[in-house]
Amino acid sequence: MTAAQRASAIHGTDEQHPNHPAHPAATRPDESAPAAASGLPTQFSRPTPAAQAREAKPCPGSGADAGVPVITIDGPTASGKGTIAQRVASALGWHVLDSGALYRLTALAVQRAGGDGSSEDQAAALARALDVCFKGGSIRMDGEDVTRLIRQECIGNLASRVAAWPAVRSALLARQRDFRRAPGLVADGRDMGTVVFPDATLKIFLDANVAVRAQRRHKQLKDKGISANLSDLLEDLRARDARDRDRALAPLVAAADAVTVDSSHAGIDDTVRQVLDLWSARGLARQG
Ligand code: DC
Repeated sequence: MTAAQRASAIHGTDEQHPNHPAHPAATRPDESAPAAASGLPTQFSRPTPAAQAREAKPCPGSGADAGVPVITIDGPTASGKGTIAQRVASALGWHVLDSGALYRLTALAVQRAGGDGSSEDQAAALARALDVCFKGGSIRMDGEDVTRLIRQECIGNLASRVAAWPAVRSALLARQRDFRRAPGLVADGRDMGTVVFPDATLKIFLDANVAVRAQRRHKQLKDKGISANLSDLLEDLRARDARDRDRALAPLVAAADAVTVDSSHAGIDDTVRQVLDLWSARGLARQG
């Protein structure tokens, strides 16, 4: 279904409700990377597209397996949660869910339908109708590879705005829960531990100082040949944090039973080890 067809479906006929839950995203190109110049750990690099985390098998309509273990990793933009989620999933041989990609895809669909993010009904209809496929590190929407497109800052900002709407969040809820498949799932986002998987076995809240996050984002854009102003990025991150934290529904907040991990001065290997250690301890505690 093209963007134009989808837009006309939304305004006219019934929505097409695709029956294929998204596969897990294997890469998150705009997630955190270290700013070597600032003395940040250089190993905080992006996950490789060929990450070994399992691809979820789409299983239309079968529903998720509630008994399957879930590790949730929530946190603010550019805290490195995508990288950590991917690495932890690879280490455990589990599936991975990049929930932010679904909000970004919704934002892209809104933009393509000519919306400016001012209509909750339109955004929710587009979220319900998302025709997406995550495979081998690439993300396709309506058959088109949009992996890089959805990582643009403008799409991230629009995603943060549409994500504040209850109808959009509820449109994406079941789709996210469908990722819960054996042998396990690592899910990253803002509300994985609080709303989407409240019964997760281990909940991590991955935080990092906003200045560190802005530097990571700055370096990453520079590496891609995109010039960006550090103070603008800092302002942008602050605004996005505020919007994600202050919204009424499913705000960015650590679940009461989450373990907070600060990645400001830790490298990716250390952070992954910390999460895996917490998982092992949790697994042993459950057996005992
Ligand atoms: O993680 P990200 O930067 O790709 O997410 C983009 C936006 O989507 C983020 O600013 C807020 C929203 N989001 C959300 O509200 N809930 C999630 N579980 C994931 C993302």
